[in-house]
Amino acid sequence: MAKIALLGYGTIGQGVAEVLRVNAASIAKRAGQEIEIKYILDLREFPGDINEDKVVHDYSVIANDPEVSIVVEMMGGIEPAYTFCKQALLAGKSVATSNKALVIKHGAELIKIAKENSLNFLFEASVGGGIPIIRPLLSCLTADVVEEVTGILNGTTNYMMYQMTENGWEFDDILREAQAKGYAEADPTADIEGHDACRKIAILTSLVCGKQVDFEEIHCEGITKISATDIKYAKAMGKKIKLLASSWLNGDKYTAMVSPVMLPPEHPLYNVDDVFNAVFVHGNMLDDAMFYGRGAGSLPTASAVAADIVDIVKHFGSHIAIEWAEEKVTLGDYKEAEFKYFVRAKASAVEAEAAFGPIACIFIPGVTDEIAFVTESMSGAAYEEAAAKLDIINMIRMK
Ligand code: HSE
Repeated sequence: MAKIALLGYGTIGQGVAEVLRVNAASIAKRAGQEIEIKYILDLREFPGDINEDKVVHDYSVIANDPEVSIVVEMMGGIEPAYTFCKQALLAGKSVATSNKALVIKHGAELIKIAKENSLNFLFEASVGGGIPIIRPLLSCLTADVVEEVTGILNGTTNYMMYQMTENGWEFDDILREAQAKGYAEADPTADIEGHDACRKIAILTSLVCGKQVDFEEIHCEGITKISATDIKYAKAMGKKIKLLASSWLNGDKYTAMVSPVMLPPEHPLYNVDDVFNAVFVHGNMLDDAMFYGRGAGSLPTASAVAADIVDIVKHFGSHIAIEWAEEKVTLGDYKEAEFKYFVRAKASAVEAEAAFGPIACIFIPGVTDEIAFVTESMSGAAYEEAAAKLDIINMIRMK
């Protein structure tokens, strides 16, 4: 019997307890032994909950109990999650976590400690919720040079963009709905400003490079500037606006970026709607592959966490290799990347053309006090130079 401790009994923690309870028999068969939750660390009490007697408030109870072989961290944030996970590894306990903030900041170090102690530090749920993406990248695609990873990596914003597009919901109302459904972060700024997607693409890029990518160095734009008018223009052009997190190999460097992008119907991510996430991967041998599923929510995320727990139990006494050195990667300059841009500005067509060169103007009914147009393909640096000459309302990159 493997005894585990859950750190955090919120949306994901309760989901993990449910997965382990509902699928106990098949999980025990696959893990080779039963898995029992011995402790749950949380600040709160859970009267009436099936696991109420397992709740403790002092981490040292868990850290000092030699029976606990796995610590499952789902608290979120850096501290005390980092201290608890490091203590667990140093005390001979493996760790599974869903915490992307922890993984991108301290993943390389925690993997190293796990390796030195023949333990494991696994984090499948930290990117794409329930979608298997980290294991496939590490094992199935290990023979490829991954030349591009582009994902819809935030369920909250994809849900919001979808509801705004399909049902005309207002930004604030749909954000509240996403929070009520348990998709959003405790502070939803991380979702709508793109920081959550940014951490996730930093994790995927670190795994692709085998070295540390700092998310603070990735250019990141969220969806807060996307208005109902932008969505009307996108619809008029037969496109959808999605928050994409992307990294791609350009020469010998990876460039990474998070921003809203207008996608045409033929793009593989165009039909990824609602709370669904998807990761598009291009390998130099594989060609294209897509991974699709639920990127947020209690049970889908818990399913990935529970899979890590099973993997750890199967590998007691041995380390599952993850190449992720602490050495930092130097990213390429996102301003060198070429896109066509959808632009709205307070300007005349003559002024817009003088700034941007050839443009294709777009008109929608009822909007007369601005110009909207699509540029030719140009670098980010060239866009900024041209945009400085006009009074820009908004800009969205196009695929
Ligand atoms: N807030 C995140 C999302 C949760 O909406 O995708 C899963 O990481």
